[in-house]
Amino acid sequence: MTPNTTERPIGIDDLSFSTTHYRLDQDVLASRLGVDAAKLHTGLGQDAFSVPATDEDIVTMAATAAQPIIARHGPERIRTILFATETGVDQSKAAGLYVHGLLGLPATCRVVELKQACYSATAALQFATALIARDPGQQVLVLASDIAKYQLGSEGEPTQGAAAAAMLVTADPAVLRIDPCSGVYSEDISDFWRPNYRTEAVVDGKLSIDAYKRATREAFADYQRRGGRYLDQFAAFCYHQPFTKMAYKAHRHLLEHAGTPGPDGDSRTTTDASDSATDAADLDAALAATTHYNRAIGNSYTASAYLALASLLDHRKDLADQPIAVISYGSGAVAEFFGGTVVPGYRDHLRTTANAHAIARRQPIDYQHYQRLHHESDLTDDADRKIEQQTTAPYRLAAIADHQRIYEATI
Ligand code: CAA
Repeated sequence: MTPNTTERPIGIDDLSFSTTHYRLDQDVLASRLGVDAAKLHTGLGQDAFSVPATDEDIVTMAATAAQPIIARHGPERIRTILFATETGVDQSKAAGLYVHGLLGLPATCRVVELKQACYSATAALQFATALIARDPGQQVLVLASDIAKYQLGSEGEPTQGAAAAAMLVTADPAVLRIDPCSGVYSEDISDFWRPNYRTEAVVDGKLSIDAYKRATREAFADYQRRGGRYLDQFAAFCYHQPFTKMAYKAHRHLLEHAGTPGPDGDSRTTTDASDSATDAADLDAALAATTHYNRAIGNSYTASAYLALASLLDHRKDLADQPIAVISYGSGAVAEFFGGTVVPGYRDHLRTTANAHAIARRQPIDYQHYQRLHHESDLTDDADRKIEQQTTAPYRLAAIADHQRIYEATI
């Protein structure tokens, strides 16, 4: 199935992200853990991770990410909000309803929450394209917001992070046309999960890396069987990045093992011989521009692949009319491989300065401060509380009262 060019294109018209008020530098963690900082910077490919203030959560980050989109496009045509997260704040009410209220979005709007680990924002994006195919006049707001939290002292601790991505999905998009063809793969596996009674994830790190690589390979095989592009037809690959080195591991694996039949029935991974495919320079050309934001922010689960997309668009100037791939992986596990074409003129619609500011404005903290925040953010009892203002973001969690979360705008 080659990309359909006769129908009206559908895709991402605007993309914005937000992160937290604080950050912990990996050097601080390395000295606390007594490990060589190079393991975290080079081995994992992480320089720092975002740490939420006590008055920040997935709702405040999502509202902060979405607000500039609403300011630019207005709320009138948004008929659906899809909120993807694995850091849900309620077992019943969709987190998107808080955002809906904070941003004054229309009542004539459906709002739902989606969950499948780090994958569900990609499901949301695909569901959004289907809604718009049925009615190209409407817009869908896709929100992906997560806080990655592991036990202190665990192997996963350096791969924490937090961020939200907001995407306006429309017909005739200004940034990325999403191809109709995509490849998917699902498998029941316990590589990473978070039972309802825990605030920190449980993870089998090595198993999760193998599961990610296998799922990527299988999703791409499905994509190719359905007539997708060859790997060497893409200008870049936006992977889910639990740590940025994971993108390199997965892409190398894909280049080495993705020998499945192409559209002509032949079997190949690239249009050239694949011997040089794992060359470090090739990997960097395909991936380096996608890693800037995740390197600084850490794992943001559902938002991660879309921070990779934002990073790519902000750091490469040559992408007009170029096909790029998005590879989404959510433990448990579901993976999806899809392609899209960058729209000429896309650079006029980017938020490069705001994105750099979201990262630069974070306050560095020491280990004791981080440790305190790590424990304070565990709202596991049902006590009422007022929450002191820490964040300078435009929205904050102000209190818990009668089991309700009370949010407020700070501007
Ligand atoms: N200098 C440079 N590199 C060094 C080094 C040094 N001094 N010391 C070690 N390294 C390298 C290692 O060689 C290794 O690189 P390779 O994998 O390329 O060999 C890298 O640093 C990491 O070292 P370890 O494997 O020893 O690290 P670890 O055992 O402490 O844990 C981890 C790494 C498994 C990723 C762990 O951080 C973890 O469990 N993280 C959470 C799970 C996760 O992120 N899984 C990813 C796939 S699942 C997914 O994607 C869903 C999701 O979002 C969670």
